[in-house]
Amino acid sequence: MIILHTIAEIRRYVQEQRMGAKTVGLVPTMGYLHEGHLSLVRQAKEHCDVAVMSIFVNPLQFGPNEDFDSYPRDLQRDAALAESAGIDVIFAPSVDEMYPSGNGKSLTHVDVEAVTDTLCGANRPGHFRGVATVVTKLFNIVMPDKAFFGLKDAQQVVVIQQMVRDLNTPVEVVPCPIVREPDGLAMSSRNVYLSDDQRVQAMVLSRSLSMAVERVQQGERDAEALISAVRAMIEEQPLANIDYVQAVSLRDLTPLQTLDQPALLALAVKFGKTRLIDNIVLDIQ
Ligand code: PAJ
Repeated sequence: MIILHTIAEIRRYVQEQRMGAKTVGLVPTMGYLHEGHLSLVRQAKEHCDVAVMSIFVNPLQFGPNEDFDSYPRDLQRDAALAESAGIDVIFAPSVDEMYPSGNGKSLTHVDVEAVTDTLCGANRPGHFRGVATVVTKLFNIVMPDKAFFGLKDAQQVVVIQQMVRDLNTPVEVVPCPIVREPDGLAMSSRNVYLSDDQRVQAMVLSRSLSMAVERVQQGERDAEALISAVRAMIEEQPLANIDYVQAVSLRDLTPLQTLDQPALLALAVKFGKTRLIDNIVLDIQ
């Protein structure tokens, strides 16, 4: 496995692979890898000849009061984990390499409308503009055949799929299932921020989603009632601070009042300064 830091190097590497008729899979990440990221690597290796991972903490997708500076970073540790999962090359550019205009800013942005109006889009202004812009850049730099994204960030998957359709980007977006800790907590690089107490209480997130699935299986179709039950369960944990709990259409992420179609039940909850997200698909026909 090799680590490349410049756009020229990764372009050259991918070009060589293509000359050998190899297909290329891209796994975009911000590093501090865990089993969730590694599951994407395994998918990439299964679908493609060559697996490229980008590791780049993208300043453009963090708000002014968010954790860009303190976001956990450890390239050596990441390289060992990525290699063990079968990655062929890591692309780890500097902020200046990706944003040569300076200060981690871009003069050009990709804005995906409508599907960014709800959930984290409503809660983190500019976040998905930063994501769509950096993913466009990564697609243009690596030019992968397929790109692998986790459903842990379900809205991100919908945003990228919309963008690829609208801009005719020749990349197949492959959504991959959420990987969880044995106690149900969705794996996240931010879990390392949690204190012992917060970590125990954070189990409520996946528990509340499972409870919601059961209620839907028992016939609940009123979105407001379902959301209230989820909120009440989370609020029992004194360290939990709810950002949102929403039920949206799986197709276009618009809020639902009646659960009469495939839906996404998604939540964001803060424990101290740490904001965790989780979601589950409600398979309603
Ligand atoms: P990051 O949070 O590092 O996540 C990288 C990829 O790993 C995303 O596709 C995310 O959905 C996936 N992932 C994270 N936790 C997961 C889990 N528990 N199970 C399955 N997949 C999981 O998402 C980003 O980075 C950035 O926004 C990025 C797309 C790289 C653009 O900067």
